[in-house]
Amino acid sequence: MKSILITGGAGFIGSHVVRLFVRKYPDYKIVNLDALTYAGNLENLKDIEKEKNYAFERVNILDADAIKEVFKKHQITDVIHLAAESHVDRSIHSPLDFVYTNIIGTVNLLNQAKEDWKADYSKHRFHHVSTDEVFGTLGETGFFTETTSYSPNSPYSASKAGSDHFVRAYGETYGLGYVMTNCSNNYGPNHFPEKLIPLFINNIIHKKGLPVYGDGKNTRDWLYVIDHARAIDTVFHDGKNHESYNVGGFNEWKNIDLVKLLCKLMDEKLGRTTGESEQLITYVKDRPGHDWRYAIDASKVNKELGWSPSVTFEEGLSQTIDWYLANTEWLQNVTSGAYQQYYEKQYN
Ligand code: NAD
Ligand code: DAU
Repeated sequence: MKSILITGGAGFIGSHVVRLFVRKYPDYKIVNLDALTYAGNLENLKDIEKEKNYAFERVNILDADAIKEVFKKHQITDVIHLAAESHVDRSIHSPLDFVYTNIIGTVNLLNQAKEDWKADYSKHRFHHVSTDEVFGTLGETGFFTETTSYSPNSPYSASKAGSDHFVRAYGETYGLGYVMTNCSNNYGPNHFPEKLIPLFINNIIHKKGLPVYGDGKNTRDWLYVIDHARAIDTVFHDGKNHESYNVGGFNEWKNIDLVKLLCKLMDEKLGRTTGESEQLITYVKDRPGHDWRYAIDASKVNKELGWSPSVTFEEGLSQTIDWYLANTEWLQNVTSGAYQQYYEKQYN
């Protein structure tokens, strides 16, 4: 029987991965390990927290002894590692936090897996969840493939690149079994409102300014979070040992076009006059080191493992807005307290 440690399971993507695995695999034990930082929220998992095959451990991945205990207590057979500091703007203010969690935290997990699984690495798998940002930035054309060289531009992406290299090195040096996924921008329910889409949904609800960085022409490739969780499920089970897979939505948007679409949908759903929310757009100082364009070539995971997105962007965005409008209490809870201080620091 598998006993899978999912790290960062109380966060945005992690909570969707935990839910998918708990529901789809009743014979697996799913152990959610999370420190519950500002980004972790057990409210995200209310609907599955009482399931028999689910357990939660509040542990910081910087605490190697606590990780050892969790591995022992739950006889962990596999890891799906999502815990991370994940926001680029925060990494510009506090790079060391990203070095600690994203690099040292990952190495702590790798060390424990190396130790506990050494009798036969072929029976175990460490799935490292990474990002397309490790590849740096693209110009107007081209795509990131699995062989694109790493060229990270932010402290966040540098720390994720560092963690990717350690995973690969543990595979090559010690024989640890691993797979890796490098995914594009996710959106969907439970996304913390420091990131573009949920921040702007929240601001539109409250008729606050929409701070578009630079000229708004930077481009991102957006994927619905549940499709990312499906891709992780596919690669975890069927991916080839020691390989990485790029995951993306085949869905590029310039920020300003996406923001205008969001404004239009929000006006419709909130019964506001067409064009009202667009008036909130304010161009602000650009993000330092702002990557120009991300675009993923997801043909490997599609051709070799049969994964493709199941939800169109229009459907996904509409469902996402509906979720935020139906969950104003969730939004209110996560935007009180420390969030206000972060907002002042970032946008003033
Ligand atoms: P998130 O910030 O919403 O969640 C991160 C989770 O990790 C939180 O629950 C937090 O409490 C936990 N965590 C943070 N530091 C920890 C520590 N030291 N010990 C234990 N737990 C800790 O992040 P997300 O957007 O869900 O991203 C999850 C993973 O997916 C990250 O590794 C990120 O790099 C990667 N990723 C994210 C995206 C995206 O668009 N959000 C895209 C590609 C890859
Ligand atoms: O590509 C995958 C990555 O996507 C993940 O690895 C990261 O964890 C995730 O945070 C995300 O990074 P981005 O920096 O692309 O996402 P963010 O939502 O912060 O920004 C999206 C775009 O919108 C980016 O070009 C910056 C811009 N932006 C963002 C914010 C928060 C604005 O113009 N204004 C804003 O206030």
